Amino acid sequence: MKPIRKAIFPVAGLGTRFLPATKAMPKEMLTVVDRPLIQHVVDEAREAGIEHLIFVTGRNKSVIEDHFDRQFELEVTLKERHKKSELKLLDQDTPAAGTTSFTRQQSPLGLGHAVWCAREIVGNEPFAVVLPDVLVQNEPGCLAQMVAAYNKQKSRANLIAVEEVPMDRVHMYGIVGVEKDSGKNAGKAVAITKMVEKPKREDAPSNLSITGRYILQPEIFGILENQQTGAGGEIQLTDAMIALAKTQPFYAVKFEGRSFDCGSKLGFLTANVAYALKRKDIAPELREELKQLLG
Ligand code: G1P
Repeated sequence: MKPIRKAIFPVAGLGTRFLPATKAMPKEMLTVVDRPLIQHVVDEAREAGIEHLIFVTGRNKSVIEDHFDRQFELEVTLKERHKKSELKLLDQDTPAAGTTSFTRQQSPLGLGHAVWCAREIVGNEPFAVVLPDVLVQNEPGCLAQMVAAYNKQKSRANLIAVEEVPMDRVHMYGIVGVEKDSGKNAGKAVAITKMVEKPKREDAPSNLSITGRYILQPEIFGILENQQTGAGGEIQLTDAMIALAKTQPFYAVKFEGRSFDCGSKLGFLTANVAYALKRKDIAPELREELKQLLG
């Protein structure tokens, strides 16, 4: 089976939920502690063995491209000032030349359309899709867990990361139904029987939500090419996956780790606290500050 070498990061969204912060700055550049959201998910992808990072961007997003480039003046100044650890950090975070691609989704037509925009760069091989709104805190990361589950498959398959959500929130996500859910399937691939994008509570096949990490076969592109608009009037990736599931297997992977919906203010703020509490340089004092605040 072909390995998963490429990942698509759809980063064209407008970030309306974070205005005015995202008026002039892409929401993907908001920081969780001291790393932009997009850097966190790129870290996750590189840890999972991804070699080529594909960003589907939009107008106003050029700073993401700059973020993954070298910053010559900054590097020279840091060198002059003997700031070795900062230089090392920047060096580690910069992808090797030729391993990033940027393409624009010219109109905001939906996630399915964003993924389709990367078809020429992906070509004819399986690939990952990583949504930067969702952070998953765990070692190994969510995508590494998915790649491990993918590598155990005997035939070409599609995998989706899922987690349980309260039934009163199913209308906010893609929801999947699975063959058998023993409740203890962490890391295992379980056959998907149904998928539906943002269902009403009464139409949801389960409470397993799609969490923003996918491994897909390239045949999805041919389906996306003619995909009609679905929920919210957008071209939905979930609808194209429903069509592909007629000819290829789809599995749900319950991952280990806590997810944060950083597209919402609450999720974003909670992620900042959770990630800071894992940092030796910040955690002890932050704990004290939090205690005082909560009083
Ligand atoms: C997208 C997907 C949805 C998934 C969600 C995860 O929706 O369409 O299936 O559950 O991401 O965050 P969006 O949040 O872009 O509306």
